Amino acid sequence: MMCGIVGYIGEKKASPILLESIKKLEYRGYDSVGMSTIDDRIKILKGAGRIDDVHKRINFHSLNGNTGISHTRWATHGGVTDSNAHPQTDCKGKIAVVHNGIIENYLELKEDLIKKGHKFSSETDTEVISHMIEDYINSGKSFREAVLETSRRLQGLFAFLAINEKEKDKIIASKHRCPLVIGIGSNENFAASDVVSFLKHTNKVIFLDDDEIAEITKDSCKVFDITGKQKNKEISQVRWNSEEAQKLGHKHFMIKEILEQKETIDRVASHDRKSIEKIAKMINDAYGVFFVACGTSYHACISAGYIFSKITKKHVNIFLASEFPNFSHFLTKNTLMIAVSQSGETADVLEAVRVAKEKGVKVLALVNVMGSSLMRMSDYSLLLNAGPEICVLATKTFTSQLALIYLLAYTCAGRYEEGKKGLEDVSKKVKDVLSEENIQKIKNLANSLKDEENIYLIGRGLSYSTTLEGALKLKEVSYIHAEGLAGGELKHGTLALIERGTPCIAIVPENESRHDILSNIMEIKSRGGYIIGISNRNEDVFDFSIIIPDVEMHPILMIIPIQLLGYYLALERGCNPDFPRNLAKSVTVK
Ligand code: F6R
Repeated sequence: MMCGIVGYIGEKKASPILLESIKKLEYRGYDSVGMSTIDDRIKILKGAGRIDDVHKRINFHSLNGNTGISHTRWATHGGVTDSNAHPQTDCKGKIAVVHNGIIENYLELKEDLIKKGHKFSSETDTEVISHMIEDYINSGKSFREAVLETSRRLQGLFAFLAINEKEKDKIIASKHRCPLVIGIGSNENFAASDVVSFLKHTNKVIFLDDDEIAEITKDSCKVFDITGKQKNKEISQVRWNSEEAQKLGHKHFMIKEILEQKETIDRVASHDRKSIEKIAKMINDAYGVFFVACGTSYHACISAGYIFSKITKKHVNIFLASEFPNFSHFLTKNTLMIAVSQSGETADVLEAVRVAKEKGVKVLALVNVMGSSLMRMSDYSLLLNAGPEICVLATKTFTSQLALIYLLAYTCAGRYEEGKKGLEDVSKKVKDVLSEENIQKIKNLANSLKDEENIYLIGRGLSYSTTLEGALKLKEVSYIHAEGLAGGELKHGTLALIERGTPCIAIVPENESRHDILSNIMEIKSRGGYIIGISNRNEDVFDFSIIIPDVEMHPILMIIPIQLLGYYLALERGCNPDFPRNLAKSVTVK
């Protein structure tokens, strides 16, 4: 389950804070929402639907009390119904639980509980948690002990928060392989799946590790290991600010985050030189480098294959994280795994890292979210420093991944200065790509393409990975089928689909493959295809052209017009770009 959870305990009324905080987690799941607070007793409001719509219907603000928990759901076990929304409770409604993850052994636990007389009111796996806590409390355990005992018996992935009417002054949190971070405020504390949820109130955090339980009151947070032993945990400071996690006048996070690329590349360029050099040495010294990632991050890795080949003259291996375990027999103690992930919570990536670590492999994470599971599991990490990315689609973090990969490749080749200067140069050019004039042009293009059913993208060399990422952007946000392919592959099959008027986006940088890609474009043009050229100069064969400055690191620039096209196509077609159907940002299931 890819859900968001948040808890608040303090001196203020909890429900407005929880509502604002859970909205920040809507990117993690958005089919149902719920909240529970403790006033004189536990009260719960919940329902199927988007947060704003459910709030209009049932008014979360009517919940009183200074302690509460909230949840935004992405259904896995049980349909999208009011009763399956969280919080879930025990038999008497005195314990409430919100949960992110999947309890794999819930059926046997449920059977056990039913035999003991527990009555279930939902189809969720989560409900076993509240009944188990109830059961342990009935047998004489304290609330915290009951959560500990319950957590020990759960199999699968979970982060959950529980409140109990009988111990009003606390929230108990438990974590196992799903993200959970505690926010430390003054006379108030928070717990959430993602720090952006409470960043407005505090940037002081405790990152829980797996199999830790936290007992949170308004002025303390005690952390215990799974045996019940108290642990000393460090309080860290997150560098993001709350403004970055807001739309700031933009209609959607997607467009805000696309425009932020004017600043994010520079942030990579100004990475501390020493740590870049240290990591570059590790890459050079490794016997076998394996890049692993999923989705957009995987496309950045495909680019890494070309970039390292060209700049460092080094072969690197690229794997989809979900497929990586099949190739684990290639790993040795001298292998370096480079795990690339925006969220640092993608289950397939974490699993690949786990497999690699079992073989004694060192892991380097390129990650955007500080304190994420990936960062904590890895031996070394470099942050993308792109700021929070809230839109479900990855945009600015993709170009930051590319930028960091370029910087590392140049540094491995002993050309750090050149790499840094190249990034600074690209960063200035991003502003040209995002000019008002270009944006207007792309809006017009989106209007003319809005009724299309298929769009093809072609490129060669490094631009091949741009086509893969471009196709993913277009399809996930506009639901138009899009396919990216290497220009040379057209004649091996896909050319059969080109008809009069079929739109085809061609990525045409100024490099050694220009001649060949122009030939591939001719193959499409002569079958009646409509050519949209993204290039540093116009060509007669283009029916529509988007002119992009000529730079060595062209993949960073070339993807931006396609991100914009996806955004405006979504608007033309009435889709919500921040929340594409069936998708969630943090994919914490395999
Ligand atoms: C696409 C997108 C996804 C992610 C993928 C990996 O726009 O966002 O394809 O790239 O789920 O996520 P991370 O990078 O967080 O591991």
